[in-house]
Amino acid sequence: MRWDKYAGLDVIPLWVADTDFRAPECVIEALQRRVEHGVFGYTMPPRELRDLIVARMQRLYGWTVDQPWIVFLPGVVSALYMAANRLTRPDEHILSPHPVYYHLFRAAQSAPRAWTDVPLVLRGGRWVWDEVRLASAVRPASKLLLLCNPQNPGGTVSTRAELERLAAFALGHDLIVCSDEIHCDLLLDPGKPHVPIASLSPEVSRRTVTLMSPSKSFNIAGAGVAFAIIEDAALREAFSFDLKKSVHDASLFGYEAAVAAYRDGEGWLSAQLGYLRGNRDLVEALVEKLPGVSMAHLEATFLAWIDCSGLGLPDPQAQFLAHGLALSPGADFGAPQFVRLNFGTQRALLREALLRLEAAVGAAAR
Ligand SMILES: Cc1ncc(COP(=O)(O)O)c(C=O)c1O
Repeated sequence: MRWDKYAGLDVIPLWVADTDFRAPECVIEALQRRVEHGVFGYTMPPRELRDLIVARMQRLYGWTVDQPWIVFLPGVVSALYMAANRLTRPDEHILSPHPVYYHLFRAAQSAPRAWTDVPLVLRGGRWVWDEVRLASAVRPASKLLLLCNPQNPGGTVSTRAELERLAAFALGHDLIVCSDEIHCDLLLDPGKPHVPIASLSPEVSRRTVTLMSPSKSFNIAGAGVAFAIIEDAALREAFSFDLKKSVHDASLFGYEAAVAAYRDGEGWLSAQLGYLRGNRDLVEALVEKLPGVSMAHLEATFLAWIDCSGLGLPDPQAQFLAHGLALSPGADFGAPQFVRLNFGTQRALLREALLRLEAAVGAAAR
C-alpha cells in the first residue's frame, strides 16, 4: 500500500506504518512449509500460539495470563471498533487521547458514541496525558478509556507511575480500559520498558482489554493476526459477542507467522530494534538542526512525529510531497501542523529521504 500509492513517481513513501524489512527467516520458512502443505481450510488458533503468548507475557512483563483470556482477531483495528461498540451503551461516553492513531476516535465516532478527545501535552520532552484535562473531561456517562501505549503518534512509552495514575482514574470512575499496545515491542530506549496496564494489578486487569499483535514487531501486517487479552469473563463475552458476524477469523498464515515469530524471532527483533534506533537517531539529529521543525525524543515505534508549526504552512504534508517525500499528514491524527515520518526503511533510502526533508524545510523557510 505504502509503495503502490506513489508507484511510478519520484516519491519516497514514508507514510503508513509498516516497514521495508523482510520478516524474520523463521517466519518466511514457516510460511513456506505451510504453503507446501497445500490445504488451506478453516483453521483454529494453534494451541502453541496461546502457550507462546502466555509465556511471553510472563517473561517480558511478569504478567500471568491464562489461555482462555486470549481472543484472536484478524487485526487490532477491528478490535478497537468492537470495543467502542460492544463495551459501551449508546448513551455512554468514551475518552480518547489526542492526537492519536485515527482508528481510536473513529471507533467512537462510528459506534456511534459521544466521546471526548483528551489532549496529550509535551512535558519533559515527552507526549503525556494532560491529567487535569482528563479529570475535567470525564462525565457520569463515561464508560470507556482508550489508551495507545506506546503512543502513536508521539512514541511515548508510558511509565509505570503514569499508568498507575491512569489506572487509579479508571478505577475511581468505574471505566473500562481498552489499551492498544500494538507497538509494545518497538522499544528504542533500553531502560524504558513497556508495562501493559492490565499487568499492574488484578483489579486493573479485570476491567481491561489489552490489544496486541506481532504485526508491527515482525513486519507481518498483511498476514492478518492480532489478539485481545481480557481476563474478566463478562467483559470478554461482551467484547466477543457476535464476533463471527463482525470479523473473519485471523488468517491461517497469520497464525503460522505469529507462532514462528514468537518462538524463534526474538534475535531478529532485537537486531531490528538496533537498526531502528540508528534510524531514529539520524532523524532526530536532522530535525534538531533544522529551523521551523521540531520533535520530541522518540522512545518507541518507527514513526517520527514532527511539529512543523514553525514553518507556517497551511498543509505541511503537501510541502514534503512536492519535494518527493510522502509522509502521513498530522491532520489524520488530529494535529494538522504535524507530519509523521516512518523511518522503518533501509538507511540509504532514509538518508535520501532526509535530504528531501531538508530541502522541503529550506524551501518553506525562504
Ligand atoms: C496504534 C495502532 N493500532 C492499530 C494499528 C493497526 O492494527 P492492525 O493492522 O492489526 O489492524 C496501527 C497501525 O498503524 C497502530 O498504529
